[in-house]
Amino acid sequence: MSLSTIILAAGRGTRMCSDTAKVLHRLCGRPLVEYPIRLAQALGSERIVLVVGHQAEAVRAAVHARFGPDAVQLALQAEQRGTGHAVLQALPLVADVSGKVLILYGDTPLLRADTLQPLIQAARGRLLALLSTRPPDPRGYGRLLRQGGRLVRVVEDRDCSEAERLIPEVNAGMYVIEAGFLREALTTLRSDNAQGELYLTDIVAQAAARDEVAVVEAPFEEVQGINDRLDLAHAEAAMRRRINEAHLRAGVTMRDPATTFIDEDVIIGRDTELGPGVILRGRCRIGVGCRIEAGCVLTDVTVGDQCHLKPYTVAQDSVIGPRVQLGPFAHLRPGSELAEDVHIGNFVELKKTRMGRGAKANHLTYLGDAEVGQRVNVGCGTITCNYDGYAKHRTIIEDGAFIGSDTQLVAPVRVGAGAVVGAGTTVVQDVPPGALALSRAPQINREGYAERRHKRREQARGDN
Ligand code: UD1
Ligand code: CA
Repeated sequence: MSLSTIILAAGRGTRMCSDTAKVLHRLCGRPLVEYPIRLAQALGSERIVLVVGHQAEAVRAAVHARFGPDAVQLALQAEQRGTGHAVLQALPLVADVSGKVLILYGDTPLLRADTLQPLIQAARGRLLALLSTRPPDPRGYGRLLRQGGRLVRVVEDRDCSEAERLIPEVNAGMYVIEAGFLREALTTLRSDNAQGELYLTDIVAQAAARDEVAVVEAPFEEVQGINDRLDLAHAEAAMRRRINEAHLRAGVTMRDPATTFIDEDVIIGRDTELGPGVILRGRCRIGVGCRIEAGCVLTDVTVGDQCHLKPYTVAQDSVIGPRVQLGPFAHLRPGSELAEDVHIGNFVELKKTRMGRGAKANHLTYLGDAEVGQRVNVGCGTITCNYDGYAKHRTIIEDGAFIGSDTQLVAPVRVGAGAVVGAGTTVVQDVPPGALALSRAPQINREGYAERRHKRREQARGDN
């Protein structure tokens, strides 16, 4: 049976109190609208149509950025005149489909494929299957009106009688509908209701009149829409628990799942251990057997196997090879690449810098726009002076070089293979391979100086 999906996402989202369209707010690193799209894909939708309205251009751009230009087709609903009207705008894009049409909302990210499968099953051989739910407070929802146990129609909250308002069973808003019936039924919708809108729910009565409706109940938590930031926060907590549980089941250790934040798109190898307060954002890929200790924050970072990230390491857009040690308090800015067995210690900052196999920079160092060879040792307090006030320049340190402590490398500059730079040197010229570079004022030792100074002080005090 073929399935197409229409996702309604034209609404304004007034209660978000935001300049950003509601469906572009992020939940565990993904825009809200991405969840129903992925759900539709997971259910095998042949076609996905997204109805956009409010901030249509921004939503289109975000969807194209995440899925490419062809995965999702967009229909514009310029004015929001109800859910029936929204589906009508999508109709031209599903005019030729046969089989079933699944209707989803753009703002219900917690809905799962496992919950929709029974709805799709129930729709077999019927015109319409509707997802119901029982919220703690049914206010605002369309109530399911039954007669003799059979669903007759959905009554919107604002059209309810006092008695109907007491019905606890409500319409969740997701349906699986026979495509031909949907096209035909939509043409009969009228806006003679309390809100003057075209209600998609009115087609439920049409299917019910032919005794061709099925109802499947869903847990309220899954179908609850996000209307404000409070809903968003609750949904994020729920989604985060789900994500963490999946990683725990797949062999990741978390010292404290309650304070571990992992975005949807993150991949983590087995036997990796995450300390409390670890945040893995965007598209992180973490290898097997890693230790990522308390407070590490990684964004779009690839980490090889068996790495050890000590507490409070912050890294972004970087690639870390196997068995690398980082931190505590290390900072990798975008474009850093560390080969295997690199050691980066406390208060070391890297930007657009490559470090070769086994290279080390263990303390208090800034390496920017640098290429560091294999087994290079970068001493404490080394600084690449990569910016001259106008442009950035590169520093190249070849294999096996030794950079003494408190060195400044004024770029562009190259230190040859195996060269030694003495501590305290300001390197302004290239250093040939194997050479020693030194730029210190010669040291003078004055014997007995301290005692003479002390005496002078004593004398001065006696004179006063
Ligand atoms: C709708 C149902 C109601 C159900 C409730 C569940 C109708 C008439 N009522 O309520 O029975 O209990 O969902 O949440 O269908 N949208 C558009 N264009 C529009 C209107 C809405 O795209 O013109 C989108 C919204 O962005 C949202 C979804 O449709 O994603 C639901 O809209 P909302 O206004 O929240 O639902 P109601 O119509 O109040
Ligand atoms: Ca509503």
